[in-house]
Amino acid sequence: MNHVLTAGQFNKQSLELILNTAGEMEKQLAPGKIEKKLQDKVVACVFFEPSTRTRLSFEAAALRLGAQVISAENAMESSSAHKGETIEDTTRILNCYADVIVIRHPKEGAAEAAAKVSTKPIINAGDGANQHPSQALLDLLTVKKELGSLEGLTFTFVGDLIYGRTPHSLIPLLSHFPNNKFNFVSPQSLSLPQVYKDLLKEKNIAFAETRDLAESLKQADVVYMTRVQKERFANAEDYNKVKDMFLLKPEHLKLLKEKSVILHPLPRVNEIDPQIDADPRAAYFREAQNGLYVRMALLLYALGLL
Ligand code: CP
Repeated sequence: MNHVLTAGQFNKQSLELILNTAGEMEKQLAPGKIEKKLQDKVVACVFFEPSTRTRLSFEAAALRLGAQVISAENAMESSSAHKGETIEDTTRILNCYADVIVIRHPKEGAAEAAAKVSTKPIINAGDGANQHPSQALLDLLTVKKELGSLEGLTFTFVGDLIYGRTPHSLIPLLSHFPNNKFNFVSPQSLSLPQVYKDLLKEKNIAFAETRDLAESLKQADVVYMTRVQKERFANAEDYNKVKDMFLLKPEHLKLLKEKSVILHPLPRVNEIDPQIDADPRAAYFREAQNGLYVRMALLLYALGLL
């Protein structure tokens, strides 16, 4: 079995395996073509934080592959965590009922803590501001599908780079591919944590931190917008100061290269004007669709079936 805890666990070979399998899943999703490889399996989706895409696409992925799903939505309130049960004990109990466990939790390291006591594979569906590896894998697939390559690209990450866990997973994955460059556009208080900058420095990968959104958009092959993570702020005043600092507006479209792509892990609040949705470069809904294929591949990977 394979736990899926952090982007750092993947090398180029395992990334290619997962992306290729996701491509195969997309092809198989035509009616009647799906091999029900998880026919006798039970997938538990236990979410201690809200989710639309991650939980429902993991559940859909499991069902498409023939698995049964057990689910705890709003688990902070609806599971025995509300009575004080630890993540370790919850995991031990889930081990009795399920073959693979998908967990989202507000605490950094929660998935890793679960994995330490688990006899079944754990998939991290987001742990606080730390990691969201399945999102980064589907982002990678989306770039590959939209631009035909994962190399030699300039990525402009915009918004909340300190609490947004998706850049924390995507940047390490992209660092495996040569000749990529990065622009990080964020308010000072939401800038990328040092650990990710150190990783890029170690690998001699060029990056710049800037407040110049317009110039960064001109350079970008991939614009990766992020939501300011309101739920991670200690008070409303600090959130209100930064929440609307960098927004993508229709007038920005003329700055972008003709062959470029706009991504957002979603949900969006106010970061991308809905008028942009009709632009062919706006790929964020296709990105969410790719989540289904990647999560089908990840369930197979976690269960050692690839
Ligand atoms: N991108 C993402 O994680 O979305 P959800 O919070 O809806 O799962």
